[in-house]
Amino acid sequence: MVRIVVVFLGLSVIAVSLRTSYYSQHLVMPTEEGKGPPSKTFVVASVEKDDISWLHKHLPEWDVSRYVVDNASANLTVPRNKGQEAMAYLTYIIDSYDNFPDLILFMHNGRYQWHNDDPLYDAVPVLQNLQLPYLISQQYTNLRCVWTLGCPAEMEFNKSPANVDASKTTEIAYPEAFQELFPGQSLPPTVGVACCAQFVVTREKIRERPIEDYKRYRQWLLDTPLDDYVSGRILEYSWHIIFGKPPVHCPNTKECYCRVFGQCDLECGEGECGQHWPFPPYSTLPPGWPTVGWDGETRSEEDLAGLRENATTTSPTAEIRSRALVLT
Ligand SMILES: *[C@@H]1O[C@H](CO)[C@@H](O)[C@H](O)[C@H]1NC(C)=O
Ligand SMILES: *[C@@H]1O[C@H](CO)[C@@H](O)[C@H](O)[C@H]1NC(C)=O
Ligand SMILES: *[C@@H]1O[C@H](CO)[C@@H](O)[C@H](O)[C@H]1NC(C)=O
Repeated sequence: MVRIVVVFLGLSVIAVSLRTSYYSQHLVMPTEEGKGPPSKTFVVASVEKDDISWLHKHLPEWDVSRYVVDNASANLTVPRNKGQEAMAYLTYIIDSYDNFPDLILFMHNGRYQWHNDDPLYDAVPVLQNLQLPYLISQQYTNLRCVWTLGCPAEMEFNKSPANVDASKTTEIAYPEAFQELFPGQSLPPTVGVACCAQFVVTREKIRERPIEDYKRYRQWLLDTPLDDYVSGRILEYSWHIIFGKPPVHCPNTKECYCRVFGQCDLECGEGECGQHWPFPPYSTLPPGWPTVGWDGETRSEEDLAGLRENATTTSPTAEIRSRALVLT
């Protein structure tokens, strides 16, 4: 497992996206008295060749701010393609500081990615099931409930030198980066949060920090000699701290699925709920996923429904399942 984890993180480039059709159509959001549903935007880190039409198709109630990191002429782009998705996220925050919607969801561009918290790694149900009133009440919410990878202790800094694992490059680089990102704050002993740098925040939460803080984080990203892989991951394990959560932020998994996604019938142990997020054998899904499986086998809609049903001891409601199975 450790080996696979390392490969995943090495390849974790840029990949997800979200939407909330059902709830935004059926619930009036309790933001302020007399105010309509919250305004909401996906901030998508992408490269020119990515296709995000699935987002517009399945989550049309969200606005999209797509950052293209490898095209200097794109409508929305970054000063330099460095630091993975963090550069796009920080550039959005700096560009939009005076004009945020109520909710901002930061994500990669791909629909199917190993790190999406879904039995088929499909971002569509993840995004469609989001419980907006809860997200508003939390102000920062990670898009993963499963603890693998990142919880409960991705990094520990008080180890004796003999116990430091040289392959944990982010853990080794984090303390010095922390001093630059959060001057005057003391390094926590442990940092843990669900991986993969996809999360939702409210305008108010972002604006609790002055724009200068976000400029400092981005300048650090521009200036650091660290590999993108490491600097991107340092931010990946800092967003929750930036947005006011404790250094170890690993909510109870069962409650998390219920509150964040409305999936309240899952049977869970600590950190996971059955095979709701099956640990993938590779970090790249096969072309044609999910109708093509890991071994190249073709899967019918019934097969996929069966996989979803088997993924958790108690299956999702028929209504959720049917929405989740709209493939492409
Ligand atoms: C970069 O973006 C511009 C504006 O959308 C587009 O016209 C151009 O074709 C893009 N360049 C490449 C290399 O894709
Ligand atoms: C760039 O922005 C303009 C104006 O909002 C829009 O019409 C156009 O489709 C955008 N181009 C791309 C490639 O997103
Ligand atoms: C679901 O689980 C049952 C019982 O273990 C098994 O027979 C069936 O093949 C599984 N279906 C799928 C699609 O994995």
